Amino acid sequence: MNTQELANVFQEKFGTPPLPRSFFAPGRINLIGEHTDYNGGHVFPASISLGTYAIGNKRNDKRLRLYSMNFAQMGIMECDLSDLSFNDNHDWANYPKGMLLYLQKSGYDISHGADILFFGNIPSGAGLSSSASIEMVTGILLEGIYDLTIDRLKIIQLGQMVENEYIGVNSGIMDQFAVGKGMKDHAILLNCKTLEYQYAPISLKKHAVIIINSNKQRTLSGSKYNERRKQCELALKDLQTECHIDSLGELTIEEFEKHKHLITNITNRKRTKHIVYENARTLEALDKLRMGDLQGFGKLMNESHISLKDDYEVTGLELDTIVQAAWKQEGILGARMTGAGFGGCAIAIVEKNKVEDFKKKVNAIYHRTIGYDATFYTASIGDGAKEISKEVVQ
Ligand code: GLA
Repeated sequence: MNTQELANVFQEKFGTPPLPRSFFAPGRINLIGEHTDYNGGHVFPASISLGTYAIGNKRNDKRLRLYSMNFAQMGIMECDLSDLSFNDNHDWANYPKGMLLYLQKSGYDISHGADILFFGNIPSGAGLSSSASIEMVTGILLEGIYDLTIDRLKIIQLGQMVENEYIGVNSGIMDQFAVGKGMKDHAILLNCKTLEYQYAPISLKKHAVIIINSNKQRTLSGSKYNERRKQCELALKDLQTECHIDSLGELTIEEFEKHKHLITNITNRKRTKHIVYENARTLEALDKLRMGDLQGFGKLMNESHISLKDDYEVTGLELDTIVQAAWKQEGILGARMTGAGFGGCAIAIVEKNKVEDFKKKVNAIYHRTIGYDATFYTASIGDGAKEISKEVVQ
């Protein structure tokens, strides 16, 4: 989709031209470090080249009109700046509405309405952060069209607040951070407690990162995501009776093993085990990558999946079938689910000249077990959210 095509649709739908500016925010994969973000641990995501495009224009009145080419059947969603409250009927449009509301609440001067058009090529509900992508693209578009200067971290944090308070998913900061701060050919090691981060070059040479969509959709608001978060909070409370910690991410493996008896509920103890070991694996993964030890990196990915399956219990038959099938293939270094789980996508690091065979064989097993196909993409790691063109209209 080029920006001129977007401008044509904009003109046709809204009856006016957009500003000659266009914006893009990617989706993300997470290489390792799952469910650690809201526990103050580390994550290791990378932004991908699939994402959400947006163009828009300021209006003279107080109306907000939003249109997504992905939900064309829903038409234009329209509301007034004075009522940006969450509305079930507004479906996808709640994300951009929420961003506008939270920018206003933070004191940014948005006194005029806007027309905004979106187009995205991230499969939605696939765990590749289509929601963070639309939040972040809205944030930078509003920054652009209202002539604001907003620190990127602020937009990231507002995106997370929209997700938590407005949409109602208690997610951590990983997705918005990866989408907002991604860098081409790099992953980001992020400490979710301090928000310190570093970029690590991903140079896989003979290997490719393959994204495998289980095509089992899930919405986090309807999933067990918030329940997992609650279980971690309860475990933390138990541990705090003796340990001086503010989050599970602060525990070393040794400390966890010494104090795990304090967690009275066995399920919550298993959840905590995943968090502590996954956090340690994430730091180790960065070292492996730095040393060029891809085998070692792949092994950590596999261990991560097993822990998410047995201790955190967020994988499910679809993702387990894909990952276990992937492990059996020639040329595989490692495979695991990515994102929240409960469906969505897995990732695998596969030797480039084995990729075609890999796809065929994994899909055959998947189809036989689940009854429908998986979809495969080769991940290309692109930049984070940015303005991409000043050439939307001549
Ligand atoms: C979702 C959430 C993230 C993170 C992952 C699991 O993607 O939005 O904050 O918790 O799940 O690692």
